[in-house]
Amino acid sequence: MKKISILGSTGSIGVSTLDVVVHHPAEFSVAALAGGRNISLLKDQIRHFHPELAAVIDKEHADRLRAILPPDEKTVILWGPAGYREVARHRDAEMVVSAMVGSAGLVPTLEAIDAGKDIALANKETMVMAGSLVVERAREQHVRILPVDSEHCAIFQCLAGHQPDQVRRIILTASGGPFRTLSGAQLADVSPADALKHPNWVMGRKITIDSASMMNKGLEIIEAKWLFGVEMDHIDVLIHPKSIIHSMVEYIDGSVIAQLGIPDMRIPIAYALSFPERLPRREIPLDLIKTSPLEFFEPDLVRFPCMKLARDAGQAGGTMPAVLNGANEIAVETFLDGKIRFTDLPVVISEVLSRHRPTSSPTLDDILEADRWARQEAYCVVKHGINS
Ligand SMILES: NC(=O)c1ccc[n+]([C@@H]2O[C@H](COP(=O)([O-])OP(=O)(O)OC[C@H]3O[C@@H](n4cnc5c(N)ncnc54)[C@H](OP(=O)(O)O)[C@@H]3O)[C@@H](O)[C@H]2O)c1
Repeated sequence: MKKISILGSTGSIGVSTLDVVVHHPAEFSVAALAGGRNISLLKDQIRHFHPELAAVIDKEHADRLRAILPPDEKTVILWGPAGYREVARHRDAEMVVSAMVGSAGLVPTLEAIDAGKDIALANKETMVMAGSLVVERAREQHVRILPVDSEHCAIFQCLAGHQPDQVRRIILTASGGPFRTLSGAQLADVSPADALKHPNWVMGRKITIDSASMMNKGLEIIEAKWLFGVEMDHIDVLIHPKSIIHSMVEYIDGSVIAQLGIPDMRIPIAYALSFPERLPRREIPLDLIKTSPLEFFEPDLVRFPCMKLARDAGQAGGTMPAVLNGANEIAVETFLDGKIRFTDLPVVISEVLSRHRPTSSPTLDDILEADRWARQEAYCVVKHGINS
């Protein structure tokens, strides 16, 4: 029986993780849960899993959550950074699922690593902002970082049993999102509602917009660099609209190893939770006859410049990726609020990147400061107008 804590239990990944727990009661139980503001769902999760601890974003939500829980419920309710720290460090948890969205996940994930917990990593922003720190601290603490992102879980499986120096390149696949076939002119007019309709995956709002803009793939290139210790020049992207091949690794002898499966996050989540074992799950089989043909295309960096912005920021290193990430979070937020157009996303981000003076070998404080600065600059760019 492995006890887990979940940071972001009320999100798409959190809910899928708890579904895996429900289907494997002999393998997993829940030590602690952390949500944000969705106290109604967190209440249901507490009633079902009876964690020792649960944490929410602030005192107001903690008070409201306590008020809607039955008096006999023993779960201790905490809040804010201190509450998230307790969830991340819970003494009984062997593994922490890092599934908050955005930069909010960074500090709790580092707390979990410092407490020696293995990490099932969904929160890619943690790796983008602070990959070097995460890798270093995980090494010091002998902590395993198991990727939950379907592409990285695929690469992890394709690398198993092979020599790292025999890898020629990693090939990340991308669905291309809902706007893959639209022209540049059409992209200027898409609405947040259009962008939130991902063709293959049901996910949280931020990652769904990142998928539509292809920023998600850019973030994943940086994530792959840190997770697998591969230079970014050796990480390619291929558009594969059906999301059946989740990624591939090409070796020096010309062999390419791929991992396939239907697009269902419960598969990579279960693998991260149970590694090196595999858990049986009958209702999610892959039917290659029904899914054929599988097609592949080159990414179009002119219509979707975000991926290149991310690659360049990752190459530049230092605080640049944290700035990219912070500016992107604000660009996505303001797009969802109807304040900027879809095609303004890369404009805002590149403007903020161009204003940044990066720090090399940043500390955690440098990274958090770069994130704060990038958010503030991105709001400024949005407020004072965009020259796109
Ligand atoms: N969804 C996927 O299929 C998928 C696939 C690969 C990777 N990922 C990555 O996994 C992470 C989570 O994605 P998701 O789709 O599950 O997102 P989501 O559905 O939006 O869920 C986000 C979670 O984070 C919590 N949260 C939001 N803001 C917070 C804050 N400031 N402080 C603390 N908690 C906060 C939310 O709480 P409330 O809702 O209670 O406010 C929720 O529990 C992201 O980094 C994403 O890139 C997701």
